[in-house]
Amino acid sequence: MSQFKKVAVIGTGVIGTGWIIRFLAHNKTVYAFDKDIKLKKNVLKEIKRTWPSVKKLFNKKKLNLNNFYFFTSLEQTLKNADFVQECASENYALKTKLMNLIGKYAKSNAIISSSSSGLLPTKIYSKCKNPERGIIGHPFNPVYLLPAVEIVPGKKTSKKNINLAKNFYKSISMNPIMVKNELPGYLSDRLQEALWREGLHIINEGYATTEELDRAIEDGPGLRWSLMGTFLTFHLAGGKTGMKHMLEQFGPALKLPWTKLKAPKLSKKLSSKLISGTAKQTKGKSVAMISNIRDQYLVDLQKLRKKYESKIRR
Ligand SMILES: NC(=O)c1ccc[n+]([C@@H]2O[C@H](COP(=O)([O-])OP(=O)(O)OC[C@H]3O[C@@H](n4cnc5c(N)ncnc54)[C@H](O)[C@@H]3O)[C@@H](O)[C@H]2O)c1
Repeated sequence: MSQFKKVAVIGTGVIGTGWIIRFLAHNKTVYAFDKDIKLKKNVLKEIKRTWPSVKKLFNKKKLNLNNFYFFTSLEQTLKNADFVQECASENYALKTKLMNLIGKYAKSNAIISSSSSGLLPTKIYSKCKNPERGIIGHPFNPVYLLPAVEIVPGKKTSKKNINLAKNFYKSISMNPIMVKNELPGYLSDRLQEALWREGLHIINEGYATTEELDRAIEDGPGLRWSLMGTFLTFHLAGGKTGMKHMLEQFGPALKLPWTKLKAPKLSKKLSSKLISGTAKQTKGKSVAMISNIRDQYLVDLQKLRKKYESKIRR
């Protein structure tokens, strides 16, 4: 499998912490760093909160916290790492500057992967030493449970390093989605963003609340999506001749102004509808409480999905 055992995680917010948990669960040695050194406490708290689900999903017995180091210097964090997972805030200037430092301090052959949700790797690695080892490894929240990671190469990334990254992610029970060439938003976030923009328009125009739109996904498309994406789902919606009939019947709707796609202005009024709408949906439960319910569900769902997905896909 992968020869990489020592991993550096730079930025330990939501996503960095998720990676740390997944790496530790797969017996990697993890060196972590955040510019906010107080976050170590939060990472340890999250490891404790998530362990019951992680343990169940990956059939693990014990978590070895001796493999976890939280350093206060970037240089020390990177010194011995074979693989670097960058998880700092989403911002071109910040990531480009950070990759310049990571390139300087990391071993010259260490793979560098950014968790970015849509920024172009060629730009992020434009000031990084040996940019042929720079990729995007875009995960999905919660990283410690979801198997998807989009691997996106920059113009200078070498095939050899793309393959090393692919094997590394497989070694931590992930299913890499290989994106051929960089594009803004990559694949999955392009799709998610389109849905999100439509939702913002519908709420902004007063047709539905956040809760009503969530229900419109949860009880219908959402139930199908964990087994089949949009195209296979629509193929089945076309009856005996599948996609052919689907296109004949629903193709004309593409000309109707159903979707708007250009995002509405994120005005104060719209923001407050989103914030109060989701607060109402939580009914006083904290993010951690709802995350625990979601995590248990995702573990059970993935076990169930294993039974069915092989019949469709592999
Ligand atoms: N939240 C998600 O659902 C999600 C999903 C996939 C990918 N991502 C991507 O992951 C990355 C991190 O997102 P997040 O949601 O964890 O954000 P976050 O705000 O929770 O965490 C970002 C962390 O980066 C740290 N940081 C900022 N500058 C730094 C620097 N120079 N050196 C070290 N640490 C620094 C901050 O202190 C903070 O702890 C982003 O690129 C984001 O696009 C996020």
